[in-house]
Amino acid sequence: MNKETKKVVIIGDGAVGSTYAYTLVTSDIADEIGIFDINKDKANADSLDLLHSLPYSAVTNKKIYAADYADCKDADIVVITANAPAANFDKGFDRLLLLKKNVSMVKGITEEVMASGFDGIFLIASNPVDVMSQIVAEVSGLPKSRVIGTGTILETARLRTILAGHFQIDPKNIHGYVLGEHGASSFTSWSTTTIASLPLMSWLDQKPVADLPSFDAMDEEVRQVGFEIFKGKGNTSFGIAGVLARITKAIFRNESRILPISAHLNGEYGEEGLYIGVPAVIDATGVRELITVPLSDEEMEKFKASAQLLRDHFNSIKD
Ligand code: LAC
Repeated sequence: MNKETKKVVIIGDGAVGSTYAYTLVTSDIADEIGIFDINKDKANADSLDLLHSLPYSAVTNKKIYAADYADCKDADIVVITANAPAANFDKGFDRLLLLKKNVSMVKGITEEVMASGFDGIFLIASNPVDVMSQIVAEVSGLPKSRVIGTGTILETARLRTILAGHFQIDPKNIHGYVLGEHGASSFTSWSTTTIASLPLMSWLDQKPVADLPSFDAMDEEVRQVGFEIFKGKGNTSFGIAGVLARITKAIFRNESRILPISAHLNGEYGEEGLYIGVPAVIDATGVRELITVPLSDEEMEKFKASAQLLRDHFNSIKD
């Protein structure tokens, strides 16, 4: 990616798309931002409003506009944030409930984007994100390394935040991953989570933490906290926008950054032919390579169960 202009087209200008656009602007990550929404007035309004944030800001000037699918042609990254109108999560927060509603929409979007001549990297946030990423990969025909779902990077951000609160340590110094589905079957790999290179149990031997919940309880909190946010404001936006921007930056700056995202497995973790959350090296080519974390037997069982759940859901919507 040697172009002078770093161009992103965002498909879906809801809470996630607009917050992501603002994050791109304030973090100076992209130079050109096209915003597509079926409600063109909303995309136009957000574009104007974002432009008005520039003259008195410290970031470089940008081109921001309401986009058409044709604008995807020379985009470096197309980000799909579109979701069907919010699901009713009264019976519990399960992103897989969105599957049937979002599948034809995401297929249609992918076809439109590809018809423009797009040949860049897809970044997917629409839920259920692992299945949607697989759909985009299959429909687009692009190399799987160029279709990336946000995966468990958001759960991992939530894990680091929760642990930072209990341990009173900067979340950036807490290293560990939530793996598997972005959803109810995700799990924390406690056996590989460290602070200052110490496994958590060794840290706790040295520095006991008063009133620390059980690992299972913290894992459950990671899975449920998105629901808490959803109950409070009807969506989640800042967290997902922040991680989308983080992945975008890793691509544009060719960082070789390791991030837990939804990627296509090809034998890693004994699985193949599905998208699921695992750590990956992200650079200008997209997913450069996957990292196999040495999971405990119990964690590997959870990974397999999560993979099977995703495979079943993907197969349930095949024609
Ligand atoms: C969340 C949504 C994006 O977990 O799935 O916040």
